[in-house]
Amino acid sequence: MASSSTIATQCLGYTPIPVALLTAEEVPAVDLYRKDAETGRLRLYRAANLPMLPEDLQRLNETNINWLYATDIDHGQMQRFIRRKLDFMIRDETLSLRDRFGRLNLVVEGLLASAFESNDTDDVIRSAGSISAMAVRLLCRDDMTAGDLISLLHHDYQTVTHSLNVAYMMVALARDLRLVGNDQLPAVAVAGILHDIGKLSVSERILTKNDRLQRREQRIAQKHPALGFRRLGKRTDISFAQLMVVYQHHERTSGKGYPVGAVGDEIHPWARLCSVVNVFESLISNRPYRGRYSLTEALSMMDQHLSDGLDQEMYQCWKQSIRKK
Ligand SMILES: [Fe+2]
Repeated sequence: MASSSTIATQCLGYTPIPVALLTAEEVPAVDLYRKDAETGRLRLYRAANLPMLPEDLQRLNETNINWLYATDIDHGQMQRFIRRKLDFMIRDETLSLRDRFGRLNLVVEGLLASAFESNDTDDVIRSAGSISAMAVRLLCRDDMTAGDLISLLHHDYQTVTHSLNVAYMMVALARDLRLVGNDQLPAVAVAGILHDIGKLSVSERILTKNDRLQRREQRIAQKHPALGFRRLGKRTDISFAQLMVVYQHHERTSGKGYPVGAVGDEIHPWARLCSVVNVFESLISNRPYRGRYSLTEALSMMDQHLSDGLDQEMYQCWKQSIRKK
């Protein structure tokens, strides 16, 4: 499946509208643009005063055009339209749970990519909040196992994709561990979406480098938890637990993590939760310098040494969760 985030990130200043949410009966009355496949530029596709016919939508689907775009002038209207349609879609019992989650994931990846691209913390947190509430509704169903969830995720290397995957996995693991009440799961998901927000302050060249990072570059990359902490530290809409996820998700109970080498219980439980799935998610996703590992390979590597310094109870629970049918 093509990465929606790749598409959205090339259209900064426009709101991506998922074609999957459009119907001939209900198309927002705004100018809609489509991206030229060759040049990557946006061209007017449909003026606001023209109808959208069923055959138009069919043609878009047949040509694999998954996104149209509206100018930022219409941003608020578009966001409301998308949220309303998404809300309707995730309640649609005529679609299978897998189908609904797959569609939701595709759409929210694009929305979140757009918010990350804007580098606007308010926008990222607002998007994270609405995405989390919708995702948790599907993730909390008894017929959605962690194994199912993993089979539905994208595995390209984008901070946005990684952040969403980690968020979903944190919810699945927190639920299985009964770490928090169900009413707290959306807050856990928000923490997962935000855990790498400090990377917005690290150069893209370092984050996407194909070769091994030099020591100086590694030191810069490892500043992202502290940079994230600084970005969110004074906000009143972020809880202490969420902030600790951002700051401590690379700490290890052995004291060998960063940024400060905290040990054992000094690391917040939500941050320990994040660490377990963060390592796992990184292994099963593609990286600029290697392909993804299978679930079996990833667990075997974690068993051998990569789970050292992770919360072992949480890690064992995660293994059980993803093997559960
Ligand atoms: Fe990180």
